[in-house]
Amino acid sequence: MSKFSFPFLCLIIAVSVSGGFVNGNESKVEIYELKRGDFSFKATNYGARMVSLILPDKTGKLVDVVLGFESVKDYLNDTKNFGALVGRVVNRIKNAEFTLNGVVYHLDKNSGNNSIHGGKLGYNKVNWTVQEYVKDGPNPFIVFGYNSFDGEGGFPGNLSVTVTYALLHHYKLSVIMKAKALNKATPVNLATHTYWNLGGQNSGNILSDEVQIFASRYTPADKNIPTGEIAPVKGTPYDFLKPRQVGSRIHDPALNATSGYDINYALDGYDANKKSKAKKKMSLAVIVKKNKKTGIGMKISTTAPGMQFYTANFVNNITGKGGYVYQPYCGYAFETQGFPDAVNHPNFPSTIVNPGEIYTQYMLYEFQVAKKY
Ligand SMILES: *[C@@H]1O[C@H](CO)[C@@H](O)[C@H](O)[C@H]1NC(C)=O
Ligand SMILES: *[C@@H]1O[C@H](CO)[C@@H](O)[C@H](O)[C@H]1NC(C)=O
Ligand SMILES: *[C@@H]1O[C@H](CO)[C@@H](O)[C@H](O)[C@H]1NC(C)=O
Ligand SMILES: *[C@@H]1O[C@H](CO)[C@@H](O)[C@H](O)[C@H]1NC(C)=O
Ligand SMILES: *[C@@H]1O[C@H](CO)[C@@H](O)[C@H](O)[C@H]1NC(C)=O
Ligand SMILES: *[C@@H]1O[C@H](CO)[C@@H](O)[C@H](O)[C@H]1NC(C)=O
Ligand SMILES: *[C@@H]1O[C@H](CO)[C@@H](O)[C@H](O)[C@H]1NC(C)=O
Repeated sequence: MSKFSFPFLCLIIAVSVSGGFVNGNESKVEIYELKRGDFSFKATNYGARMVSLILPDKTGKLVDVVLGFESVKDYLNDTKNFGALVGRVVNRIKNAEFTLNGVVYHLDKNSGNNSIHGGKLGYNKVNWTVQEYVKDGPNPFIVFGYNSFDGEGGFPGNLSVTVTYALLHHYKLSVIMKAKALNKATPVNLATHTYWNLGGQNSGNILSDEVQIFASRYTPADKNIPTGEIAPVKGTPYDFLKPRQVGSRIHDPALNATSGYDINYALDGYDANKKSKAKKKMSLAVIVKKNKKTGIGMKISTTAPGMQFYTANFVNNITGKGGYVYQPYCGYAFETQGFPDAVNHPNFPSTIVNPGEIYTQYMLYEFQVAKKY
């Protein structure tokens, strides 16, 4: 992994686990900006969502590579999870139920008979509090917190959750997700659901961008629910081990149940043996090669075992920033996370967090810009 600001990373990690965890203060729902020279980022505490990420293209012009809306009001109506921090458990749970320590838990059925993204009022749709906010200077960052209650969406136990967004040097964005189980064991699986388009949020589809995914296995699914198998990507349209255009096999019959990519990968670099607390190793999940128009590239690293790759197949006719209308394949979401429905598959890495334990996912986005620094 390339170098990044370790001392600073440690500082913000310390911030987000300190004290009694999340204070319950209400914060005004608005859009907060972080700025580091010509690199800037906006987020809202509604759903702890990423709103924009702006950086220079190869001509020096500033480009926003995050899809979304201009105002909080527009986000309140969103059903496609633009920029959202998703939890308590991202993705689907089959039949909206699971058994833990002998107790059967029934969750919100908000996707057919399944539960998705934490239920009817998941973390993507609640108002988080602003715990810390440093808008500029060398280390701009913001920490959002949320106290999730016992029974929310059907999940057991109180859970204190934070997400920290920080801008680091050389066009890096760090995202740290933490969740402390306060009184009961519970599954926890958090993810960011941001749609990216490195050609600019209003530049059309992502089908000609080249992507490389560091996973030689994936979790085959039936109607979006993993079968439990962990199968090789070799010989399937899911194989992105070598860089390849997103659109090159998007019409493969194997993908037409989902109309494009919507699948979880088992990341090769996941270090199952280093599960202890903050010592988890980060591994490279995906590289998006430099976009032809802007020259902007992106690398994502994570401590999570999986990544859902979603090509915005069902984003249809949605009016976003500047009146631009988003259509299928307008962006890609690289949702690093635990495996979907893990709570019903003992062979998947466990997502259970016991009382007093802290779930963590570290993510690092490294943007490649043509500019020399
Ligand atoms: C949040 O509430 C605590 C008391 O619970 C108070 O001490 C603190 O100053 C508040 N913080 C903010 C940012 O309002
Ligand atoms: C939100 O959706 C409702 C119903 O679809 C619509 O009436 C309303 O105008 C929308 N609000 C915004 C801000 O788009
Ligand atoms: C949900 O489950 C019920 C009972 O098993 C079944 O009749 C129904 O068709 C299912 N609905 C969907 C959308 O799968
Ligand atoms: C979040 O805040 C918005 C804007 O103030 C408000 O309309 C909405 O009802 C709040 N949501 C919840 C779940 O409290
Ligand atoms: C759980 O949260 C509720 C409020 O949401 C609070 O009343 C209760 O004291 C909390 N219990 C624990 C053990 O944190
Ligand atoms: C998927 O695409 C193939 C080839 O284009 C076609 O034969 C098949 O009927 C399609 N299946 C569905 C479910 O649309
Ligand atoms: C797209 O959305 C606009 C505005 O909401 C609406 O007028 C138009 O009919 C929609 N087009 C399609 C093809 O759904």
